[in-house]
Amino acid sequence: MSQHDRLLIIDFGSQVTQLIARRLRELKVYCEIHPAQKVTADFLRAFRPRAVILSGGPASVTDPGAPMPPPELFTLGVPVLGICYGQQVMMQMLGGEVRRGEGMAEFGRAFVEPADGPLDLLAGWFEHGPEQVWMSHGDHVARLAPGFSVHGTSRGAPYAIVADPARRFYAVQFHPEVHHTPGGRRLLENFVRIAGFSGDWTMAAFREEAIAAIRAQVGQGRVICGLSGGVDSSVAAVLIHEAIGDRLTCIFVDHGLLREGEAEQVVGMFRDHYNIPLIHAEESARFLSALAGVTDPEQKRKTIGRLFIEVFQEHAAGIEAEFLAQGTLYPDVIESVSFTGGPSVTIKSHHNVGGLPERMGLKLVEPLRTLFKDEVRALGRELGLPEAFIGRHPFPGPGLAIRCPGEVTADRLAILRRADAVFIDQIRRHGLYDAIWQAFVVLLPVRTVGVMGDGRTYDHACALRAVTSVDGMTADWYPFAPEFLAETATRIINEVPGINRVTYDITSKPPGTIEWE
Ligand code: XMP
Repeated sequence: MSQHDRLLIIDFGSQVTQLIARRLRELKVYCEIHPAQKVTADFLRAFRPRAVILSGGPASVTDPGAPMPPPELFTLGVPVLGICYGQQVMMQMLGGEVRRGEGMAEFGRAFVEPADGPLDLLAGWFEHGPEQVWMSHGDHVARLAPGFSVHGTSRGAPYAIVADPARRFYAVQFHPEVHHTPGGRRLLENFVRIAGFSGDWTMAAFREEAIAAIRAQVGQGRVICGLSGGVDSSVAAVLIHEAIGDRLTCIFVDHGLLREGEAEQVVGMFRDHYNIPLIHAEESARFLSALAGVTDPEQKRKTIGRLFIEVFQEHAAGIEAEFLAQGTLYPDVIESVSFTGGPSVTIKSHHNVGGLPERMGLKLVEPLRTLFKDEVRALGRELGLPEAFIGRHPFPGPGLAIRCPGEVTADRLAILRRADAVFIDQIRRHGLYDAIWQAFVVLLPVRTVGVMGDGRTYDHACALRAVTSVDGMTADWYPFAPEFLAETATRIINEVPGINRVTYDITSKPPGTIEWE
């Protein structure tokens, strides 16, 4: 994507560096995050940033060996914004002084008031009084670097916002990228405007460029793509098909552990609607027999994973492809920062079909590897994928097998699938689907006594699970109204033969996990 104006984010290891990139992408600015260790003077020259942001980080510039950017950064003539640790780096390198935080640390919510005169970076700020910001650094600036003036102060941070407008150097002690700093987006928007970004990073532009890049990479070769029904592989498949047409073949391994109607939807969408060559590997019987007698959750995962690769490989064998498409996203690719021991940089890799590329000697096509999840969704919309596909809740690879504690059988799956469909239908009818991160039914390995009509029943119990979350790492149970729960329980018991009791799981993560297994 070299034709776009680029912003470089130098990462010093803050937990929220990715948010800087996400905010900038929302402003239609193309940016990349690179760990401080990697950013040399040569790297800077090759990257040719239009602006640079220095992230926060856990180190102290007063420590020997604290990570620093190359001094050439400040001779490029481009705007630089330092955030928290990044502010201190700027002050230290440009001739100011930073002291350890004793007594001056300010963490969490703070209020910044204006100081010496207006500043282009702060257009729109302070119109309604002090601005709320999120502070998180213990060290503080004791003396400003020459050329800098103060434009915002808070009780604990006399140099909350400093700038040298002539050189377009700005530094703030708080985090503008987090939502606890409500004016943060405006500040970042001002910064990219000052830097002269044109806002050319749109999904329409990305689509054209990605198609050209896929064509250039693949040439006359063939590509196979594993479809799961999830948004990443779906978007990757449609994009690659647009680039190379029928030289893409999709393989949909149907392990029989999908939700109601899902397999039909995948086939209908890709084969019938998009006319993408699709192999529907309907292997549910094979998966079920491999799962017979397996009750341990990790054993279930291993069994399904092993068989998945086996089936995929069998169906791929006849295609003579050189390339395997993967829906790898940017967060899987960003090199993480490590300042303590070991190799300094670890690259997380993503194996949707674990180990397959090596085993089959395939090269990877990863057209989404510069995108965040929100951008993949936007690209999906751009490509005309229906909203129902794009906004879907995440679904685990091992599917319903891990929502069926105990043995997975065809009968238990059928009951689970029905109950799950009723629960999701309820959530959609009540307009709650998009407010929830994930919702599903778990079929419990417990039978309970009930009474229906005049008769006694002895049937399965199930649990409803619904959580809110940002990334699946932590989650809160969703507070349904009692009326919603009552109506859903009644519907499940009436509409799903085999279930006579419904419970609601009110465990958050931690200490629970989202799935039961
Ligand atoms: P947990 O249960 O660990 O789930 O809180 C966090 C997120 O990960 C999904 N999940 C999986 N996804 N293979 C997957 O592809 C798995 O084995 C797996 N286990 C959990 C889960 O659905 C949730 O979104």
